[in-house]
Amino acid sequence: MKALRMTQYGEVDGSLEFQVVDKPSPKADEVLIRVQAASVNPIDNKILRGDFKSFSKVSFPAGIGRDVSGEVVSTGEEVTHFRPGDHVFARVGEEHVGTIAEYITVQVSHLARKPQNLSHQEAASIPLVGLTSYQALVQVAGLKQGEKVLIHAGSGGIGSMAIQLAKSFGAYVVTTTSTANVGWVKELGADLVIDYKKENYLDQLSEIDVVYDTLGGEYTLDAFKVLKPGGRVVSIVGDLDPQAAEELGLNWLIRKLLALKSRKVMKAAKAKSALYRMVLMQANGEQLRELGNLYQDNIISPVIDKTYSFEQSKEAFSYLASGRAKGKVIISMEEPATA
Ligand SMILES: NC(=O)c1ccc[n+]([C@@H]2O[C@H](COP(=O)([O-])OP(=O)(O)OC[C@H]3O[C@@H](n4cnc5c(N)ncnc54)[C@H](OP(=O)(O)O)[C@@H]3O)[C@@H](O)[C@H]2O)c1
Repeated sequence: MKALRMTQYGEVDGSLEFQVVDKPSPKADEVLIRVQAASVNPIDNKILRGDFKSFSKVSFPAGIGRDVSGEVVSTGEEVTHFRPGDHVFARVGEEHVGTIAEYITVQVSHLARKPQNLSHQEAASIPLVGLTSYQALVQVAGLKQGEKVLIHAGSGGIGSMAIQLAKSFGAYVVTTTSTANVGWVKELGADLVIDYKKENYLDQLSEIDVVYDTLGGEYTLDAFKVLKPGGRVVSIVGDLDPQAAEELGLNWLIRKLLALKSRKVMKAAKAKSALYRMVLMQANGEQLRELGNLYQDNIISPVIDKTYSFEQSKEAFSYLASGRAKGKVIISMEEPATA
C-alpha cells in the first residue's frame, strides 16, 4: 500500500515522501481500516521538525498522521463490537501513527462509530482536537454552566471546536482571533470575540473562571492576570505540571527538571489559589463516542478550512505550518480536493 512517511527530521519538503509499504495486519484487539480521510495537526509538524527529539526519538522511516475516518476491512479475533463494513473514526494511539496512508490498524478501544450525518472528511476533523478539548475543558477544568472561559485562538483547529464544546456546556465564551476571523468565530457561538490585532485582551478581561491556553509562551503566565481567584488554567502547550509529569510515569530526574521549568507558572497559580494543569491528550474511543453524539445531534459542527487530496498531502502540512488555518485541514483519499 502507499503511505506518506517521515524520512528524516526537517521541513516538509525533503523530509516527507510517499513509500510503498506492507498493508498492516490487525492484532487480536485491533481493526484494519481503509482510510477515507485523515486530518493533520500541529503535533505532526512539530515531530517532523524534531521539536521533541531530545526525549523521544523517531525511528525513520515512520508514518505520519493521527486522525482517521474510514471503513473497517477486517478485525482481530477479540473484536466483538465492530465488523467489516462499519464506518468508524479515531485518534489512533502513538503505536499506530501513520493515518496518511491507504490502510491503518487501530486499537479497538480508540475507535468510535462515525456520526451518520457526517462525511468521512468531516469526521476526520474531530478526534484529536475534540478529545484534547474534552479532556482539557470537561475532564480537567470541570467547566460548568454559566462560567466564563477564555479560549485563545478561536479560529484554529482546537479553538473552533472548543468554542462550540464550551457553549454546549452553557459557558460564557470569550475568544481571541485576528480581524479577518472575528465574524465567523462569533457565528460559532463565542459571546465575546477580541481582535488581538486591535485590542489587548489583558485590558478587557478579569474574573475569568477557566483559561484554555492554546498558545503558550507569555500567554500561559498572563492567563493568571485575567483569572478569578480559585480559577483554573488548562494549557495544551505550556510547561508540564508536576501532577501531569507523575501521571505520565516520567522518571525522577526528568520530573525534577520539569518541576524547575514549571516553577514560575506553579508560583503564579499558588498566588491566585488557582489550578494549573497541562493536558497531553490521550486517545479514547469512549469519549470520542460521546463527542460524536454532539455532532450527530447538531450541537457541534465540523469546521473545515481546506481539503487536500492524498497526493497533495505535503501541501496540507505546509499550509498548517503557516499557523493561519481557519479550522481543520483535511486529507481526503477519495473526494476531489477543495484546496
Ligand atoms: N497538548 C495536547 O495534547 C495538544 C493537542 C492538540 C493541540 N495542541 C497544540 O495546541 C496548539 C493549537 O493547535 P491548533 O490545532 O488549534 O493549531 P492551528 O489550527 O494551527 O492554529 C492556527 C490558528 O491560531 C490562531 N492564532 C495564531 N496566533 C494567535 C494569537 N496570538 N492570538 C489568537 N489566535 C492566534 C490563528 O488565527 P489568526 O490567523 O487569526 O492569527 C489560526 O487560526 C498547537 O500548538 C498544538 O500543537 C496540543
